[in-house]
Amino acid sequence: MKVAVLGAAGGIGQALSLLLKTSLPAGSELSLYDVAPVVPGVAVDLSHIPTDVKVKGFGKDDLAAALTGCDIVLIPAGVPRKPGMDRSDLFNINAGIVKALIEGVADNCPNACIGIITNPVNTTVAIAAETLKAKGVYDKNKLFGVTTLDVIRAETFVAELKGKNPADVHVPVIGGHSGTTILPLLSQVEGVEFSDEEVASLTHRIQNAGTEVVEAKAGGGSATLSMGQAAARFCLSLVKAMQGGDVVEYTYVETNSDDAEFFAHPVRLGKNGVEEILPYGELSAFEQKAKDDMLDGLRGDIKIGVEFVNG
Ligand SMILES: NC(=O)c1ccc[n+]([C@@H]2O[C@H](COP(=O)([O-])OP(=O)(O)OC[C@H]3O[C@@H](n4cnc5c(N)ncnc54)[C@H](O)[C@@H]3O)[C@@H](O)[C@H]2O)c1
Repeated sequence: MKVAVLGAAGGIGQALSLLLKTSLPAGSELSLYDVAPVVPGVAVDLSHIPTDVKVKGFGKDDLAAALTGCDIVLIPAGVPRKPGMDRSDLFNINAGIVKALIEGVADNCPNACIGIITNPVNTTVAIAAETLKAKGVYDKNKLFGVTTLDVIRAETFVAELKGKNPADVHVPVIGGHSGTTILPLLSQVEGVEFSDEEVASLTHRIQNAGTEVVEAKAGGGSATLSMGQAAARFCLSLVKAMQGGDVVEYTYVETNSDDAEFFAHPVRLGKNGVEEILPYGELSAFEQKAKDDMLDGLRGDIKIGVEFVNG
């Protein structure tokens, strides 16, 4: 497996690269690309960890070399939020970064599976799709918005509240990746009961967990370590599936359903990316209303991405 991390010198990029260096299957290669001049140093630093994963750093002018032969490309490149900012405030800078990097993917490894981490994910995934279409290489089964952080946060918060081991708690999270578009399906969590007040407060906490980190970091950025863990989990699931394993992850993919063009669903992963988009099951009345209320916003976020590429 050859995996590229674009934006590898950043907060998420470094945490993610460390986890991949220590967890990818033996014989894998890790390609670290960033415009920051520190990236070759990050690669040398990681290369001293004794695992059978080759690490190479690539600077600003070496995107093509970084991407050639890649099976998976993970993109956390771009600016993170500061206190008071919404994810959509990042659009002006990050939209162009994602478009340029995806053009590089289209030119150098058009068959790779792509995981978009750069915010606003609701929109940047649509930008990636339209950019790949313009290049004639779009495969909807190979483009993912990484929403795993919403899932691991939900699992942590439910476990905390109910005194459970987080490893035993599974929380479906559907929709998008910002504010109310993040929709945890607490009614489907097995083995726990919630009061109406708990559902309302937990849902609110899961939807605003990113802001909890942004405020606590007080201008120093957003979630990087938990996001690194979430992206590593997503990548390792994809690797397992591409090597023949049976894996389901919640991720933001093209569904073209009545909900929205892109929507996070449970997805069975396989050798070629999406194997099957699974239904998310029955919603409680609270969840149904939350979904109905957020759909216009999510569709609007997607439209902004489509228009950014197509004018
Ligand atoms: N999907 C999620 O759940 C989630 C969670 C947290 C953060 N994020 C997003 O991830 C992104 C990165 O966050 P971070 O905290 O790592 O930021 P960061 O500023 O620490 O790192 C970003 C890195 O991207 C690099 N970069 C900028 N332009 C680039 C380009 N054109 N090509 C390659 N690299 C480039 C920078 O040099 C930097 O090293 C932000 O957009 C943030 O909002 C997503």
